[in-house]
Order: sequence, then structure tokens, then C-alpha cells
Amino acid sequence: MTEHFDLVVIGGGPAGYGAALYGASAGLSIALVEKDKLGGTCLHRGCIPAKELLETAAVVRTVKNAAEFGVIVEPRSVDWGTTLARKQAVVDKLAGGVAMLLKNRKVTVLNGSGSLGPGRTVEVVGPGGETASLSADAVILASGSVPRTIPGFEPDGRAVVTSDGFFEIPQVPQNAVVIGGGAIGCEFASTLADLGSRVTILEALPKILPGCDDDVARVVLQAFKKKGIEVRTAVAVTGHTPNELGTTVHFGEGESIDTNLVVVSVGRAPYTEGLLREGTAVTLTERGHVLVDVGYRTAEPSVWAIGDSIDTPQLAHVGFAEAIVAIKDILGEDPAPVDNSKVPWAIYCHPEVAFAGHSEASAKEAGYEVAVSKHRFAGNSRALILGETDGLVKIIAEKRPDGTAGTVLGVHMVGPWVTEQLSGGYLAVNWEATVAEVAEFIQPHPSLTELFGESVLALTGRSLHG
Ligand code: NAI
Repeated sequence: MTEHFDLVVIGGGPAGYGAALYGASAGLSIALVEKDKLGGTCLHRGCIPAKELLETAAVVRTVKNAAEFGVIVEPRSVDWGTTLARKQAVVDKLAGGVAMLLKNRKVTVLNGSGSLGPGRTVEVVGPGGETASLSADAVILASGSVPRTIPGFEPDGRAVVTSDGFFEIPQVPQNAVVIGGGAIGCEFASTLADLGSRVTILEALPKILPGCDDDVARVVLQAFKKKGIEVRTAVAVTGHTPNELGTTVHFGEGESIDTNLVVVSVGRAPYTEGLLREGTAVTLTERGHVLVDVGYRTAEPSVWAIGDSIDTPQLAHVGFAEAIVAIKDILGEDPAPVDNSKVPWAIYCHPEVAFAGHSEASAKEAGYEVAVSKHRFAGNSRALILGETDGLVKIIAEKRPDGTAGTVLGVHMVGPWVTEQLSGGYLAVNWEATVAEVAEFIQPHPSLTELFGESVLALTGRSLHG
């Protein structure tokens, strides 16, 4: 028997469960098909456990620096078992919350692999081989992504892991090599270094955090050096030779490094295995993403695809936003798609990075004359109180023909808690507000966000402390 719904969603990560929750809140009858755990990569193998472990790293730093505040804490060590248990408790609590929300909104959750067939039919095969047939007026594909690997560096569950294995490592390694200095690589390198590992990052491009503004990436690089992280850029890894204690990684021109653990963080690939049966018009791109138009519609009528399986920023919050757009489209509300060039980015290494909109380089490349303002946390009272003065706020605005600064094009931050401070900058960029408009708004004193206020104010040609 085929059960019919207004909407069937395949994939229970942020994009998929976001679509189910938002659609259910709009009154749609919905089935959500998930073969693993509700919450997806973000909740089980990504954002949440990564940030939870980074918090353990922050606690270690606080304890390490406690004497500076006159607080004497000795001895100091990390009980990794307790660390992992706390991480798991946070993940489990949130996973239970997602399940509860879906239940309360009467979403039918099916545990199994879903595949799309012709005419918006979805076949579900459960863990024991049991099957179910669904049909729907609309289908959303949200099957997510998996870590990319490098040939010769396949995860072995011992010395080589990707982000899938990182959250279960049995102990903090003495030495670690992180291949790839992007968001994941920098978060893991930062965590491990604060926990006491000697970390080396091997990055193929000339700089780490290649997607970030140069000034921001430089601050992270300097802070990483202070932590003892060795950063090797513009190097290629060529292979590794496992040994009793871990492995020897070979890279560059005949160089090698002995390590207990290799973390491969070289990007994520869309995951669509078994998603599509014969007879649908849905197609994949050359790189394996589900092909969609600007409104996330596939070539099959009334079938949308969202989240990491399509070629948009691989961020949970972008998945949520795409889910809302797809549901509004299903409801016939003609939504505006997400502007991918202006989404908020947040990287939680220490120091944290957050930005929205153009970097200085990308604004210039796009043909803008720019006015730039940079202010450092070193002069910010709250940062000094916290003892966290590494970092800066950088505003990139359009320079008008008369030389004054106009529309805010980009806001880039690096430093203490900047992932919690981006919203003002994000709004400014997406509202296409001018520097003069934003400068009128007050920031609390003393606060870290004052630096954003000062940086904007300085672009009006006058300033307070900046
Ligand atoms: P990424 O694309 O951000 O960075 C991968 C890095 O690996 C790049 O710098 C690349 O040049 C380098 N690389 C590629 N092949 C290499 C090789 N053979 N040897 C050495 N370096 C190599 O990918 P990442 O960090 O794995 O993250 C995956 C996705 O998840 C990204 O889209 C990222 O935006 C997202 N993410 C976002 C987070 C956040 O915003 N806090 C946290 C974690 C992930």
C-alpha cells in the first residue's frame, strides 16, 4: 500500500528536518525519511560535537590562564573520557529535541533509506530490509554530504580519520597532522593544540582559511603559531607509512613527519548514493551535486533539493534557509532564494572567525572602489578584561565618487566570541545599509561589539576611540 503525504523529505539533517518542521508548522502533512540518526552530519559528526570539544579546549585555556587572574588551579589535566561523555550528552539531548519537535508537529518519521522514483514516489528500505512506499505532492531531497578523502589516506579507524572518526578518538594524541587548513581543519587543529597535542597543518593552497579575508586569516595564522601549531602551506601530501605508534606522513619535496593521528579535512562531497531510481528527471552535476535552479527546483516537477547535496555553501544554517525557501515555494508564496554571497560564515577555532559579504579582495575583484576600516580587539575594554585581545573587525564599504564611504559590502571579524557578534554586520550587509545608517546605532559599553560600532563609525570620517 502506498501512503500519500503533502510532502516527503529524504534526509533528516538540518536541511531535511528543517523543511519538515517548517512545512509542518505551515500545516502540511509530512513524512521524513532518515536512514541513520535525526540531526544528520551537523548534529552527530559536525557542527555540534566540534563546537562542544572546542569548548573543552576553551576551558583548558581558562584554567591555564587562571593564575593571571589570581586564581590558582592545580594540577591540570584532561580526562578525555569525561570530555567525550559530555560531548555525547549534548548531542543526545539535541537529537532528542529534534525527534520531539517532529513528533509534536505530527511529522511521520521513517527509519530507512529513501529513494525517489517517477511520479514523486519514494521507496523506503528499513534497516531490516522491510519496505514502505510513499507518494507525495512534493518531494524534498536533502541527503547531505560525506567527507572527501585523498587517495592513499582512506580512514583506517586508527591512525587516519576524517571528521566522521574524529569525535571518537580514544585519546588526545601527542602528535597530530591535519591535512587541509579549511574550516574543519582549523577547528580540529585548534582543539587538539589547546588540549596539548603538537599539531602540524598541511595545506595545499598558499594560505590556511583560503575563503577568508587575508587580514583575518593572518590573525588566525599568528594565533596558531603562538599555540605551537606548525602551519605548512603550498604543500602536497604524497602518502603515508603506518607504524606502531601511528604513521609517517610524506609530503612536499621528500619531507616526512611522524604522527600518532592524521585528520583528513579536505572538503565534503555531496552524498546521493541510492537516492535516485530510474525514471525521474533529476540529474547530478559533474561533481555529483543534485542539479537545481536558483529556487532549488530539480528538473523533476515538484521535486526540490536543498542542503549539502546541492552546490551551495555547506552550512547548516544555509540548509535551514533553503528549507524555508523550498517550503514557501511549495506553498506558492514566491520566495526569494538565499543570496549565497551574503550568508553568515562562522568558524569556531581559537580565535574565532565570522564574516558576511565581500572580503576586501573579492570586493575589488567585483569592481568596487572600497573604503576599509580595521580595528583591533587590543584596544577594546571587554577584550582586555577577558584577556582575549587577538583579533580585529574589518568593514569593507563602497567608496563613493566623492570619497565618502557608502554601502556596507562586507563585515569580517576574528577574535573572542565573534561568531556571536556577527548579526549586526550580517544585517548591515544584507540590508545593504550605508555606513552612516549603521553608525547611528549604539553598542553597549563595555562590550566586544563596540569594536564593530567603532569600525563603522570610523568610516564616517569621525570617531570616538577608533
Ligand atoms: P574546506 O573546503 O573549507 O577546506 C578544505 C581545505 O583543504 C582547503 O583549504 C583546501 O585547499 C585543502 N585541501 C584540499 N585538498 C588538499 C590536499 N590534498 N592536501 C592538503 N590540503 C588540501 O573543507 P572542510 O574544512 O573539510 O569543510 C567542509 C565543509 O564544511 C566546508 O564547506 C565548510 O564550509 C563546512 N564547515 C563549516 C564550518 C563552519 O562554518 N564552522 C565548520 C566545519 C565545516
